[in-house]
Amino acid sequence: MTQVVIPAGQAEADSEVLAQAARRRTFAVISHPDAGKSTLTEALALHASAIGQAGAVHGKSGRRGVTSDWMAIERERGISITSATLRFSFQNAVLNLLDTPGHADFSEDTYRVLEAVDCAIMLLDSAKGLEAQTLKLFDVCRARRVPVITFVNKWDRPGREPLELLDEIEQRIGLAPTPVNWPAGVAGNFRGLIERSTGVLTMFTRAPGGAGRAGEERLTAAQASEHGGAAYEAAAEELALLDEIGSAVDLPSFLAGESSPVLFGAALPNFGVRRLLEALLELAPAPAPRLDVAGEPRQVHAPFSGLVFKVQANMNRAHRDRVAFVRVCSGRFERGMVLTHAATGRPFATKYAQAMFGQDRQTLDVAYPGDVIGLVNATALRPGDTLYDTMPVHFPPIPSFSPEHFAVARCKDSSKHKQFRKGISQLDTEGVIQILSSDVRGDQAPVLAAVGPLQFDVTADRLEHEYGVPVELEHLGYTIARRTDVSGAAELAGKRGAEVLTRRLDGALLVLFTDRWRLTTIKHDHPGLRLDPLLAGAE
Ligand code: G4P
Repeated sequence: MTQVVIPAGQAEADSEVLAQAARRRTFAVISHPDAGKSTLTEALALHASAIGQAGAVHGKSGRRGVTSDWMAIERERGISITSATLRFSFQNAVLNLLDTPGHADFSEDTYRVLEAVDCAIMLLDSAKGLEAQTLKLFDVCRARRVPVITFVNKWDRPGREPLELLDEIEQRIGLAPTPVNWPAGVAGNFRGLIERSTGVLTMFTRAPGGAGRAGEERLTAAQASEHGGAAYEAAAEELALLDEIGSAVDLPSFLAGESSPVLFGAALPNFGVRRLLEALLELAPAPAPRLDVAGEPRQVHAPFSGLVFKVQANMNRAHRDRVAFVRVCSGRFERGMVLTHAATGRPFATKYAQAMFGQDRQTLDVAYPGDVIGLVNATALRPGDTLYDTMPVHFPPIPSFSPEHFAVARCKDSSKHKQFRKGISQLDTEGVIQILSSDVRGDQAPVLAAVGPLQFDVTADRLEHEYGVPVELEHLGYTIARRTDVSGAAELAGKRGAEVLTRRLDGALLVLFTDRWRLTTIKHDHPGLRLDPLLAGAE
């Protein structure tokens, strides 16, 4: 039998990585605009050590310090387009919160961020329940099997009945809701939260001025039933009902994406936010082995590996740089390591690794599984790429979502065609927009394909300001894309209501249809034609 030689100190190194990974929780908040994501992010960070003051994280227009909104276009509109990462510590844990853009529009960035997290918090407005964007994002979590914790926000304002909200979660998304705590007092007349497992009632008082940790007073179950009044009685009855129908928090079904622990609270006055952080620590999974393209798990303590989930150019206009955000999947990262870029086999130096807090950057010397590293001057890296140290690994590519909006881009100044081509190609590689082309349309008029129309504005803005090329966009009336093959492309050439184009990045042949009706008729008229959805479940 061959004897495996373990280098001296390796066991200690492995156990250090495992211990550090076990302390980490890497998550995102998914919500519909205005449900309170920015407010919740601030409220979460308030309990942690990274950011001391609420308002320092996400500056919407008019708020304090703008940390995550760095592009001029974002500031103009008061929205956050680019995803920022926040890292903070709470108790003994390190929390990595990956921001998903919070505007009504969609971009591929949002989906990619969900590739890099281990858990998501689904944030609901107590008056509105499940809304369109929450549902779309939830579908991505389901497809990726990301476990979801639900936080019902704005309980300080009039809203819906808690049981009705639970029912909606169960009926509309098929997720069994399992309350961790329960509100005493209807929405708008919030008296406190009852911890389901102990019956302890926590009552809150607003911090002066509203921005800060709320005061908390705890009553045991016995004290609460004596002093809690009618609101407590009613809540206790509802809890008894929940116990009867058996909706206790259940870790295996939560991790399998079948149930969702539910917490109530109000982010603005910071009610129930600390409990949400504790729930993350108790329930959310720590980084686990990630499967490679062959389906083999990369163990958490294996040599370093990371997944590029986002690339952002020109975050710092003064330096015109390009940053790749890498989620550490295994091993210990040390700044200065020379990694291998799995796609090309080329070495990749990491001298300029940084921790990214929106626009603030700090040099990052060491990182562990679950952490996010910002690699500066990462011109060769694309979203979905793998980096590794010593032991090769290749993670599956990040699925590309089906575009639903299409526009032709034309350079307004014909003397700048070269820059136009360069800009278009770089934004394509970066994943800002997908570029489609065809011989019929020619090189001067590529088709931009987006998941959400805001991607067009970002593309046009960046072409103008970063590459000095003003462009004109002509929106096309297509709404659906399907993948076909060479014979399908030949069969559909010149058909009305459909157009065949090639995706530049991977050469895939796509057919664009004006509407579903057109797609159905073409399918009917051409049985056997290959017309595959781009990503099952994402449409
Ligand atoms: P978003 O990032 O999900 O888009 O939402 P954001 O945090 O900006 O919150 C949307 C609005 O809801 C904000 O009010 C915010 O103050 C409010 N809000 C968030 N959480 C709570 C809560 O727990 N209780 C109450 N009562 N309100 C909450 P706004 O008037 O639109 O903006 P602002 O002027 O307060 O910034």
